[in-house]
Amino acid sequence: MSDNGHPLFEVENLKVAIDGNEILRGVDLTINEGEIHAIMGRNGSGKSTMANVVMGHPAYEVLEGSVKYKGKDVLELDTDERARLGMFLAFQYPMSIPGVTVAKFLHSALKARAEGGDVPVREFRVNLNKAMDLLGVDSSFASRYVNDGFSGGEKKRLEILQMFVLEPTLCILDETDSGLDIDALKTVAEGVNALRSEQRAMLLITHYQRVLNYVEPDVVHVMMDGKIVRTGGIDLAEALEEKGYEWIEQELFHDTDDATSAEAAQA
Ligand SMILES: Nc1ncnc2c1ncn2[C@@H]1O[C@H](COP(=O)(O)OP(=O)(O)O)[C@@H](O)[C@H]1O
Ligand SMILES: [Mg+2]
Repeated sequence: MSDNGHPLFEVENLKVAIDGNEILRGVDLTINEGEIHAIMGRNGSGKSTMANVVMGHPAYEVLEGSVKYKGKDVLELDTDERARLGMFLAFQYPMSIPGVTVAKFLHSALKARAEGGDVPVREFRVNLNKAMDLLGVDSSFASRYVNDGFSGGEKKRLEILQMFVLEPTLCILDETDSGLDIDALKTVAEGVNALRSEQRAMLLITHYQRVLNYVEPDVVHVMMDGKIVRTGGIDLAEALEEKGYEWIEQELFHDTDDATSAEAAQA
């Protein structure tokens, strides 16, 4: 529960279209404070669509349903308003911003979010250095240009640094489908584990189970064809690692067959 008695984050019957195609077809998801959830699913199942809609990406059309943060419907809010409330999305494909250093970028992000828009440079620097120490990031990283020639691991480091600096209450991390190298994966995992707290919730979106070797989620969901079709514990992720996604599809088809024959029997 969040401090006002509502779940921290609640998605209900979310249906979303892009270019007239329905991509999310009724997603339900509740995340409480302190919990780490993982959403797994094959390419094209709708994971990134879900993350983007939650943060207010304008390309998507919400057809039905609600997204609530601390009980407040956020679908009418702009992305920056959502961020100011404490929601954070690490982008799957962060843009490079030549000419803007990591330090300046993070400082701007923090200022944009702060009441009154002012964050003293000195205070910011102290916090940034602390975060970089904790993550084992070399101090030269702060003066590099954002994502300019960054490796996969460095991009992830920047995302995690953003989370440290902004201290969001709900963090959504969308892992690239192409997969991260082991360093990048460990960076993400270390960051998530370091940021794990009673007040904060995290949603890890991942194509592969590998990151879950380093971060243990409380709840694992499987998304298929725009719906969450299975929810379980870490054993669900392990079953996916071992057997792939086909068995779930088979179970789903089987359920449908049963439902159809049950209907036929009733008729
Ligand atoms: N900007 C877009 N324009 C058109 N189709 C899109 C767009 N973004 C996603 N889609 C389609 O939506 C479906 C779900 O994509 P996505 O949410 O990226 O899945 P995932 O992250 O699980 O791989 C795919 O069929 C994809 O082609
Ligand atoms: Mg994706």
